[in-house]
Amino acid sequence: MSTSQYLTDLFGLGGKTAVVIGGTGVLGGAICSALAGAGAYVVVIGRNSDQGRIRVEQIEAAGGEAEFHSADSTSRAELESIVAALATQQRQTHILVNGAGINSATPFLEISDSEWDSIFEVNLNSVRLACQVFGSDMIDRGTQASIINVASLSGMTPLSRVYTYAATKAAVINLSQNLAREWAPNGIRVNSISPGFFPAEQNRKVLTPERIESIMQHTPMYRFGHPEELAGAVLLLASPKAGSFVTGTNIVVDGGFMGMTI
Ligand SMILES: NC(=O)c1ccc[n+]([C@@H]2O[C@H](COP(=O)([O-])OP(=O)(O)OC[C@H]3O[C@@H](n4cnc5c(N)ncnc54)[C@H](O)[C@@H]3O)[C@@H](O)[C@H]2O)c1
Repeated sequence: MSTSQYLTDLFGLGGKTAVVIGGTGVLGGAICSALAGAGAYVVVIGRNSDQGRIRVEQIEAAGGEAEFHSADSTSRAELESIVAALATQQRQTHILVNGAGINSATPFLEISDSEWDSIFEVNLNSVRLACQVFGSDMIDRGTQASIINVASLSGMTPLSRVYTYAATKAAVINLSQNLAREWAPNGIRVNSISPGFFPAEQNRKVLTPERIESIMQHTPMYRFGHPEELAGAVLLLASPKAGSFVTGTNIVVDGGFMGMTI
């Protein structure tokens, strides 16, 4: 067998449909490209229609296939309508990526109820909703599937200044493990990915010069991640063959940040 045939058998996603919620964003975009590059039909979901159309064009320009649905990840009805739309195309969801997220760096005593609630709504409640909506469809159809929730290293160890965000991500890791246990008998694997520091939209305001220096001092590779560096972890988790015995885990992609003390 040739090397390329071996890798296609192991990681290829031909014939699979991958739904990427937050595929409009920086990391979500790289995840879409990785899944499309491995042969999946990608369903990009996000609130920003212009960015969604650009994402589909990028995937198609690279030889992949995709469609965009404008939806708010916090709306059960909007997610359900996407499942219904996919059903009319005879599509079932083999891979679900929950990658929508928002952040803020408000001092703890100044966090308002509405700020706390809105970050929990997008970062955690969206994950619950999508897992319920797409997960119940996977179970009903008996789809062998993979759910990948985008968490963060701040969910594993407290990260200063982003109190609300970090709390949501800790919950995402916990929920992913719990669903992995629950749905293993259904053939649905559930894992999370915890990226380290990757400049993107949601963390632009948080990355001040002092903060960047402090991050670099704590990162053995002394640099930020590039979004495409998530591809390996995503394809491992997405692949029914390469990732066949991988569930309930959290893959950290952080240039060594989590392994560092002083
Ligand atoms: N960039 C990092 O360093 C980093 C590190 C760890 C985890 N993450 C996580 O990665 C994921 C992607 O974030 P990113 O860094 O690429 O930021 P980003 O801001 O570029 O992307 C986030 C995307 O989520 C979308 N979104 C936000 N709220 C939404 C909603 N209600 N409905 C639908 N879409 C919504 C935004 O429009 C945007 O396209 C997030 O979950 C984030 O928490 C990022």
